[in-house]
Amino acid sequence: MSETRAINFGAGPSALPQSVLEEAARGLLNFAGTGIGIAEISHRSKEFAAFLAEVEELIREQLNVPSTHTILFTQGGGTAQFSAIVLNLLARHRLLHPDLKDEERIMDYVITGTWSKNAAQEAGRLGGAKINIAADARVTSSDGKSFDNIPPHDAYKFSQSPALIYYCENETVNGVQFSHDQQAPESFPFHLLPKDALLPLVADYSSSFMSRPIPRLADHAVIYAGAQKNVGPAGLTIIIVRKDCIVDVDAAAKLGAAPVPIGLAYKSFAEQKSMPNTPPVFSLYVSGLVLRRSKALGGVSYYEAVNQRKKDKVYAVLGDGEKLGLLKGYVKRGSGSWMNIVFEVLGEGTEARFLAGAEAKGMKSLKGHRSVGGIRVSLYNAITEEQTDQLVAYIRHFLAEETVTSNS
Ligand SMILES: Cc1ncc(COP(=O)(O)O)c(C=O)c1O
Repeated sequence: MSETRAINFGAGPSALPQSVLEEAARGLLNFAGTGIGIAEISHRSKEFAAFLAEVEELIREQLNVPSTHTILFTQGGGTAQFSAIVLNLLARHRLLHPDLKDEERIMDYVITGTWSKNAAQEAGRLGGAKINIAADARVTSSDGKSFDNIPPHDAYKFSQSPALIYYCENETVNGVQFSHDQQAPESFPFHLLPKDALLPLVADYSSSFMSRPIPRLADHAVIYAGAQKNVGPAGLTIIIVRKDCIVDVDAAAKLGAAPVPIGLAYKSFAEQKSMPNTPPVFSLYVSGLVLRRSKALGGVSYYEAVNQRKKDKVYAVLGDGEKLGLLKGYVKRGSGSWMNIVFEVLGEGTEARFLAGAEAKGMKSLKGHRSVGGIRVSLYNAITEEQTDQLVAYIRHFLAEETVTSNS
């Protein structure tokens, strides 16, 4: 079977470890020795309840999630969280400050790419507060309109008592990511945030969750991620939420906040162990298998080391291609993502040749997002270092061939 599997560099849904897929195939027929497949078994069965508790523990342990935070599992992807975060945190703000008018409530958004832009747009659509764009990376970009950088610290203007402060840690489409080195100018400016022990800081970790430790995790109010990059199949959203942000949304509505649909209220998920309704059973199952495997390998520190080597190798060959005038990275180097590396192949027809050559070697899904173009290499956890080496070798070969062609 393995000979026929492509190396899938797709941005999500994306590659999953082969051993997990094989185990999941067995679980589809017979889950936990019950004789019932995972897609058929009741989510209220004791076997599934035990599995769900284990999935939560696997995340808590590997990311060091403190007891101040609850882990919730929902559906609806990142997109549902664009809305859920606004509604739950505006309800919280209403309970804390019942007398403020809507125009006096502020939500801070840091915009560094397509996904944070979309999140801010949804916040604007829902209303209930004013939006302050705390920073917009387009302003500090090379052409004034691209998402090609993480803004320098002096570009941020946070509000004093916002209902939420939002950022996207890794912009999957644009290949831009905050640096985890707190001294780097491309790090998230935690030191500039208003001083508040219960800061409503929200981070979208959809495309970097479990790829390495999360800096200052305990200082966040909400961290969320769709599973479909590093963790499992689409359909599952993982939310780490500080307990003070799980509020009585109905009490807030009585004070004038927008009513929160039951399927988006953190409280209903927290009170019912993430099962106010049927959870995405299969997606949770595969994610649990991935997380078990990740723990056995050494957890997020293991992946941090491997992912660092993987991205260093790809950026190195990209740099060589740039020196030859054949490749061009889309992102300023200190802002480059570990997970999604976006670049152009320069020259008439060259990109098509690049993609066709990769495809012939079984390397797929390298075409960039339709809004950006070019090439996007996604290096999620399931992409091995050996597979990365194969891609790098292919790119080196491609560069050599193109150099010969252009010199002849
Ligand atoms: C960083 C990020 N945020 C949000 C989303 C939207 O997630 P979903 O498609 O699960 O709604 C994506 C999707 O790729 C993403 O990469």
